[in-house]
Amino acid sequence: PAPGWAIDADVVVVGSGVAGLTVALRCTAAGLRTVVVTKARLDDGSTRWAQGGIAAALGDGDTPEQHMDDTLVAGAGLCDEEAVHALVTEGPDAVRRLIATGARFDTDASGTIELTREGGHHRRRIAHAGGDATGAEISRALVDAVRERAVRTIENALVLDLLTDADGHAAGVTLHVMGEGQHDGVGAVHAPAVVLATGGMGQVFSATTNPAVSTGDGVALALRAGAEVSDLEFVQFHPTVLFLGPDAEGQQPLVSEAVRGEGAHLVDADGVRFMVGRHELAELAPRDIVAKGIMRRMREQGAAHMYLDARHFGAEMWESRFPTILAACRTHGFDPVTEPIPVAPAAHYASGGVRTDLRGRTTVPGLYACGEVACTGVHGANRLASNSLLEGLVFAERIADDIADGTAARKTRAAAPVPHPAPRVLPLLDPAARARVQHVMTLGAGVLRSAASLAEAAERLDAIHREALGGAGGDGHKTAEPGVESWETTNLLCVARVLVAAARSREETRGCHWREDHPDRDDAAWRRHLVVRLSPDRS
Ligand code: SIN
Repeated sequence: PAPGWAIDADVVVVGSGVAGLTVALRCTAAGLRTVVVTKARLDDGSTRWAQGGIAAALGDGDTPEQHMDDTLVAGAGLCDEEAVHALVTEGPDAVRRLIATGARFDTDASGTIELTREGGHHRRRIAHAGGDATGAEISRALVDAVRERAVRTIENALVLDLLTDADGHAAGVTLHVMGEGQHDGVGAVHAPAVVLATGGMGQVFSATTNPAVSTGDGVALALRAGAEVSDLEFVQFHPTVLFLGPDAEGQQPLVSEAVRGEGAHLVDADGVRFMVGRHELAELAPRDIVAKGIMRRMREQGAAHMYLDARHFGAEMWESRFPTILAACRTHGFDPVTEPIPVAPAAHYASGGVRTDLRGRTTVPGLYACGEVACTGVHGANRLASNSLLEGLVFAERIADDIADGTAARKTRAAAPVPHPAPRVLPLLDPAARARVQHVMTLGAGVLRSAASLAEAAERLDAIHREALGGAGGDGHKTAEPGVESWETTNLLCVARVLVAAARSREETRGCHWREDHPDRDDAAWRRHLVVRLSPDRS
């Protein structure tokens, strides 16, 4: 269908988490006409669910260099040192600017920000809000600021595809909007700068900490637009997700690393602390090491989960420091004040994504990526806990500054006639395929992978693709009704296939990519990134 409406802007930001709203506020402050489009409501993304906090060298005795060291160790040899340097040196001031925007972090009686610890950090470095509701507070502050500054927003707007001009430069996006009055149905925002801030892809697995909206839309759009995508094999599985049964599906309750940071113990079915002796930091080892430790002990004991024991916190500390987690546990019938709670790893974070430089530029001119959708190089093979909100902030500022610096050039470009092609008509998948994709991914490309499990996953994903397109030949004539669910399912299959291909290629174990058949890290062959670029006309 041809777009029924169009808006002109200087910048269109796709997504409304910490990354998207920070870009939007800074672009607006620079005088740029900015439009934020978001798939659900402004506060419906992953940011709102972040618990533990935001890492930055804010404490006495801490330095950006120490934060950098911990980030590089967690990243297992694949971090981009310049990107990490930007993150850790610009991070503390970016957090202070977030506070100036209105975010209220927890402080002690003297007004000093309280800091906690999480896995892989050698010191207390994590600022938090509302105890364990840091993301909710950041989201509240940014949404309030966006409303106060009257930044133009369109909610319930699913992004479809990138528009480009005759030179291949970004020229806006097409959207499918549900129920926004004059902006209903398929339309377009024309802008010479497009910022993808669409979050992650956790919903590609059956069980994840990610909200329902995390369906890899940004990575799929970037792939369709011919942008480079990197490191998709490095999916981080959070070690401690409340275990609600082997068949639990969709978003699962996170039990923040900060609970371990404050002294909770991981114990097995016999009550033994199995991480002690496995790593010098025991339960506070980097996340991949704890997730592997849990999975190994589960296999040794034939158990479906391990336990997190924080009874020694007592009721008062649970209520004041971790009210969100306490409430979630009690909702599901567990009481961490009186019993160890069942936990197991679940998909949590995409360390890879759309490849960018230090200014957030992707390989398509005018297209930027920020936050979880991006691969800036700061996470390498495994993101350090609580570096994600910080990455969203720091790189959002860099992107907004880059866009503002290039405004004059873009105004000339925008003055040229903007082509207004109809959105490409992809064969869309029937939403019924979603659960199949998720099961295939969980079985074949989950925490523990092998050549055989990945080959089977690839074969089954190909079969879903062929069937969806109409018969064994996949002639592309079959397509589902356009709508959020069919687009999301199409995007999920697209990113799942690329992720599995990358995981099959990387024949080693590194960071959060764990190959049973290649259990060691192989720096000689694999200290490098897997970069994927599809030709723009391939879906
Ligand atoms: C957590 O609170 O454990 C999550 C922190 C993160 O993913 O960075």
